[in-house]
Amino acid sequence: MKTILITGGAGFIGSHVVRLFVNKYPDYKIVNLDKLTYAGNLENIRDIESKSNYEFVKGDIVDSAFVSDLFKKYGFQGVIHLAAESHVDRSISNPTEFIYTNIIGTVNLLNAARAEWTEKPGDNLFYHISTDEVYGSLGEEGLFTEESPYDPRSPYSASKASSDHLVRAWYHTFKLPVVISNCSNNYGPNQFPEKLIPLAINNIKNMKAVPVYGKGENIRDWLFVEDHAKAIDEIFHRGKTGETYNIGGINEWKNIDLIQLLCKIMDDKLSRSAGTSASLITYVKDRAGHDLRYAIDSSKLQADLNWAPSLQFEEGLAKTVEWYLRNEVWMNNVMTGDYEKYYDKQYVKR
Ligand code: NAD
Ligand code: DAU
Repeated sequence: MKTILITGGAGFIGSHVVRLFVNKYPDYKIVNLDKLTYAGNLENIRDIESKSNYEFVKGDIVDSAFVSDLFKKYGFQGVIHLAAESHVDRSISNPTEFIYTNIIGTVNLLNAARAEWTEKPGDNLFYHISTDEVYGSLGEEGLFTEESPYDPRSPYSASKASSDHLVRAWYHTFKLPVVISNCSNNYGPNQFPEKLIPLAINNIKNMKAVPVYGKGENIRDWLFVEDHAKAIDEIFHRGKTGETYNIGGINEWKNIDLIQLLCKIMDDKLSRSAGTSASLITYVKDRAGHDLRYAIDSSKLQADLNWAPSLQFEEGLAKTVEWYLRNEVWMNNVMTGDYEKYYDKQYVKR
């Protein structure tokens, strides 16, 4: 039996990765380490929490002694590292937390993995989950490849770029077995409603203004979160040590076009007359340093590991809208922090 550490497994993407691994690999023991910040909720993985190959540990990756003890206790053979501060706007208003969690937290995990695997060499792997934002901003043409130079421009992307460099440094200097992937914008169930799609769904539902930054002309490449989780599974099991893989949806949308599509879907699902939701669109002050366009060339992943996105965007977006409309209690509780308070009573840091 392999024991795998997944960090950030109570968050948006992490919850889908934990669910996939717990259900697909009964021979693995999956340990989910999460601090349960505002973005982490055990409700996201309620359905798998009683499985015998799963364990949750509440803790902070910034606490090096805690991380080192955890490795000694469980003897992990694999790490899938997703825990991070993930929201660009928060990194603009409060950058320091991003430096602690995304940089120091990653170094603590690298140090602990190195110590453990120096003592017990074997079939080990440290898989670092990163973002396409490390490559900076594209103009109207071109795609990010694995060879694109790093050019991070927000405190969030600079902290993620820094962690990517550190992971590669541990590979080259200490021969730690690592792999990295850089993914485009994810969407789907369990995403905290500060990010564009769930925020817009919630506001439209409540007939509140839908804020569009600047002119709404920025472009993102959207991928359904379960397709990202499947790519992570492929890369963890069949990716080449030391390599980087780009993951993307081949699905570029201007923000304003995406919001217009979402408004049509919402009118339909809520039986509103056409144009009701779109009347809520409100142009607001632009994000500072707002990157114009991200777009990913994921041909390496497609060619080497035969991965491709499975969902068309319209289908994925409709599924996503249905999930948020069905999960009103989840939405209200994450927004008021009620899940966090409830779980704090039940789980004590080890
Ligand atoms: P999220 O904000 O939804 O979840 C992050 C999780 O990490 C939360 O459960 C939180 O409690 C946990 N966490 C935060 N600080 C921690 C700490 N100090 N110690 C332990 N746990 C901590 O994030 P997400 O959107 O699911 O992103 C997950 C990862 O994927 C991040 O590394 C992010 O950079 C990367 N990524 C995200 C996207 C995207 O579109 N969301 C795209 C590409 C890459
Ligand atoms: O590209 C991958 C990245 O995608 C991940 O690494 C990040 O963790 C994730 O948060 C996401 O970053 P973005 O900044 O692209 O996502 P966000 O949902 O915040 O914004 C998407 C686009 O929509 C962006 O151009 C800003 C714009 N926007 C966002 C919000 C929240 C608006 O116009 N209005 C809004 O209210």
